[in-house]
Amino acid sequence: MLTKAEIASEKLNPNSHFFSVVLAPTNEEQQLLWTLKNLGKLPEDFDGQLFVPLLEHQNPKIRCLAVKNVGKLKDERFLTKLVAFAENEKNTIARREAVSAIGRLKTENAIPILTQFTIDADPKIILQALRGLLYFREHPKVQLALASLAEHPNEMIREQIAKELKDRRQAETSKTRNHSASPEALKNVMVRADVQDVLKVVPDESVHLTFTSPPYYNARDYTIFPSYEAYLDFLTAVFKETHRITKEGRFFVLNTSPVIVPRISRAHSSKRYAIPYDIHPRLTEIGWEFIDDIVWVKPEYAAKNRNGGFFQHRKPLGYKANSVTESVMVYRKKTDKLIDWNLRQYDDETIAASKVMGEYEKTNVWQINPATDKVHPAIFPPELAARVIQFYSFKGDLVFDPFGGSGTVGHVALTHERYFFLCEKEAEYVERAEQMLDTSLFPTTNPRTLSLTELKSDIAKETQKL
Ligand SMILES: C[S@@+](CC[C@H](N)C(=O)[O-])C[C@H]1O[C@@H](n2cnc3c(N)ncnc32)[C@H](O)[C@@H]1O
Repeated sequence: MLTKAEIASEKLNPNSHFFSVVLAPTNEEQQLLWTLKNLGKLPEDFDGQLFVPLLEHQNPKIRCLAVKNVGKLKDERFLTKLVAFAENEKNTIARREAVSAIGRLKTENAIPILTQFTIDADPKIILQALRGLLYFREHPKVQLALASLAEHPNEMIREQIAKELKDRRQAETSKTRNHSASPEALKNVMVRADVQDVLKVVPDESVHLTFTSPPYYNARDYTIFPSYEAYLDFLTAVFKETHRITKEGRFFVLNTSPVIVPRISRAHSSKRYAIPYDIHPRLTEIGWEFIDDIVWVKPEYAAKNRNGGFFQHRKPLGYKANSVTESVMVYRKKTDKLIDWNLRQYDDETIAASKVMGEYEKTNVWQINPATDKVHPAIFPPELAARVIQFYSFKGDLVFDPFGGSGTVGHVALTHERYFFLCEKEAEYVERAEQMLDTSLFPTTNPRTLSLTELKSDIAKETQKL
């Protein structure tokens, strides 16, 4: 039996007939398999022709190892042989080796061939072809091939394409803008429009933090949805776009709570919808990584009394808790980078100035009194917004609220030397927000209310300048 040492020493001898003997197709199969497995790295002048007859060997394992060794040579002269092999071979592992070998040639001539393999029935062949194509990722034909796979039914292929497209977008964004900066066109702007239309025009990776409280499902009169599913779909669409416009590794803080839709008559019961729990899986699916669940606790007087009946009759099953809590769920845009990476994107002065000094809440239970407003029925207490903004952003950051309401997030952002970007579709709340963000209160910050058209035009002007 051959030894690895013999193989190693014969590889150093260019005139040796040794390999033509040990790789002869008529040799005993076990010996051929052992030799092919142990050839290791091949010298540049190795005679690849010795593998060609083995590509037709009746044992698929031998064919597979033979094609793998052809791949090691990275010699374009074998391209036609490899293509014919990949097209006709029945063994799936051997075929994948052949496609991998074609990719390893790193020749532009292989682009149309590898593209052809992206419509193969075997997802692993497609992934192998993709690996080869990505070496020429800037080539227009490769771009077309990648785009055609974006909606492929196989999840691994879709993930690979999505990652590739994301990396491209990130590379382009970071060329034009650094992590701590944000578009001037969005700074201290409230847009009077539907958030879904607004988000369509906002560039990728624009905002540092989002803090929001969405409309509650059919609980108040400002938004009526045809069904709970439609409501969740709407929030999912908004938070997916929010994810896109959020900078790498930055935070999204969502305030919601279960809502009750009142009963339509005494013969019916009211219905409770567990919004925080139902939206959570959708958020993680979008790419928001769960970080913390903070419970905002209000004093008992703030809760609607649901105890009347039970208080009287005291019979089991009729108990209804008065709800004094809301959930404040904290998510981070999923990334491989640690928080330290985000910190490194800021200069020392900004980090020092943004430190959260003095006493602060150390638990996830935040006792904060609710706030009321003469115009808006459901505003954030400024204290809640202040904690979120201080804990999850730096001075000079851009803080987004897709459901801006009376502008609490804007007001608190300015107070803490951050910029705001808000959307609100109801004219009376926009007006209320304008009072809260009055330029006489914040003279140097220039808060503006824009229509969607004005915002689009400002973004276009800024993009042209870059
Ligand atoms: C719970 S309130 C937010 C209140 C806000 N946090 C504050 O402190 O004033 C939700 C707001 O979202 C607004 N809204 C609902 N659907 C919207 C949409 N599609 N686009 C923009 N705003 C929307 C509502 O008009 C409402 O003012």
